Amino acid sequence: MFSNKKKKDSQERSEKSAVDLQRIPEHIAIIMDGNGRWAQQRHLPRVAGHKQGMEVVETITKAASKIGIKVLTLYAFSTENWKRPLDEVNFLMDLPVKFFDRFVPELIKHNVRVNVMGDEEQLPKKTQEAVNNAIEQTKDCDGMILNFALNYGSRTEIIAAVKNIATDVKNDKVTTEQIDEDLFAKYLLTGQLTPYNDPDLLIRTSGEQRISNFLLWQIAYSELVFTDTFWPDYLPENLYHDIVVFQQRDRRFGGIKTQKGENESK
Ligand code: FPP
Repeated sequence: MFSNKKKKDSQERSEKSAVDLQRIPEHIAIIMDGNGRWAQQRHLPRVAGHKQGMEVVETITKAASKIGIKVLTLYAFSTENWKRPLDEVNFLMDLPVKFFDRFVPELIKHNVRVNVMGDEEQLPKKTQEAVNNAIEQTKDCDGMILNFALNYGSRTEIIAAVKNIATDVKNDKVTTEQIDEDLFAKYLLTGQLTPYNDPDLLIRTSGEQRISNFLLWQIAYSELVFTDTFWPDYLPENLYHDIVVFQQRDRRFGGIKTQKGENESK
């Protein structure tokens, strides 16, 4: 009879073997949702869900890096999350401190570079320090980028890009004629991720089917996968499964499929 561990390992192997390693999405973005409900189901305080969620960040980061993802963007705190009770906000602001404290050596071992996008100035000093130390300590890693969206909101990001372009036009650094999609993309926070600015795959856990002000420009052609699993229950086998779902989709970017199976714009 299978033990739980053996059963889990075998399921993980079977999901992994279904992944086509030649067609791995380069950039995966995840809305990590369901921490509160996970805790509630266990009669635990909501923050217990966030704590377990942090453990899952570690597991999924390793799995994503091993399978060859180039960028993993995780929505860790939105500009709207400040509306939560102060205790919960404080706990969430402590998580990067705990996470990087423990996990930076592992990140370096896995050649993972940390990036953070969002309004850093509003974060508590200790969170800013933790984040900046992690960025500094992993700056020479050239494997996967672990990109945390922290105090991030897509509309704010777009408005900031518009303002910066307007300033550059005023200062004759850019002409109005030069403003196109490529230039605009460089002014977004994901400009730092070039050439992997846009997610190929966006996953949201917990059964909710919303975008919640996440990467509104960048997901124009992303495949969206909504899974019922709560984030604290999300395992590498769930990630492999969602990658397989992505690989079964027919991405045409507004074009048509040629007989060779390649895309051709209309
Ligand atoms: C949404 O679940 C989740 C968050 C607002 C926080 C996500 C943060 C983590 C998973 C940990 C991040 C780790 C690091 C290292 C920064 P929810 O609380 O809205 O869940 P609910 O919809 O069930 O209430």
